[in-house]
Amino acid sequence: MDPFITPFRVQLTTEAFHEFRNGKVSRRRLSSLSNYYCDQEAARFSVEQSDPLVYEVWELEYEAVGRGLSFGMTRIFPGIVGKEFFFTRGHFHADSDGDEMYIVLSGHGMLVMSSHAGDCQILEMIPGQMCYVPGHLAHRTVNVGEEPLVFFTIWPPNLVHDYETIAQTGFPKLIVSGLSGPEIISNPNY
Ligand code: F6R
Ligand code: ZN
Repeated sequence: MDPFITPFRVQLTTEAFHEFRNGKVSRRRLSSLSNYYCDQEAARFSVEQSDPLVYEVWELEYEAVGRGLSFGMTRIFPGIVGKEFFFTRGHFHADSDGDEMYIVLSGHGMLVMSSHAGDCQILEMIPGQMCYVPGHLAHRTVNVGEEPLVFFTIWPPNLVHDYETIAQTGFPKLIVSGLSGPEIISNPNY
């Protein structure tokens, strides 16, 4: 294998990432995420009705190479399950071993972060802004708007993603649709 990564450039759009060489795409429908939502009845109903596409991720990881920067583009569609907005599964970076940068391209979101001890921090995601995620915090993105939320992420190579912890515990806070917009509430199941 060529010891060097060849220079390249790519437009920061979902269309360009769709065409991108070597990139892989994962699509997550509600049926693969329904356990993550608080309102299990609403999740079941929505899966039976249409099993909507919640989000898709294009990514290029340099795990095997051991250097380079891994990066990805995520698009979360607008939607609600019960009162919770559509979100990504969320994960820790195992061993707290890598920080990550989120660059918001379009839409309106919330970035929910939590330590293993349950200290929770939430940043609003606004187009044109960057959110910095320290490696020891689990992170989940939530689309609180009416348009797709699209963001570009960059993380170090050889990073192990731990999904299991969040699948078991969830996050301490939930982002729900309230009377006057998105609201942050405590997760009754945490
Ligand atoms: C990578 C990262 C993002 C997410 C993506 C989907 O470290 O944080 O690229 O992987 O937004 O979310 P998950 O991976 O939680 O399903
Ligand atoms: Zn991450």
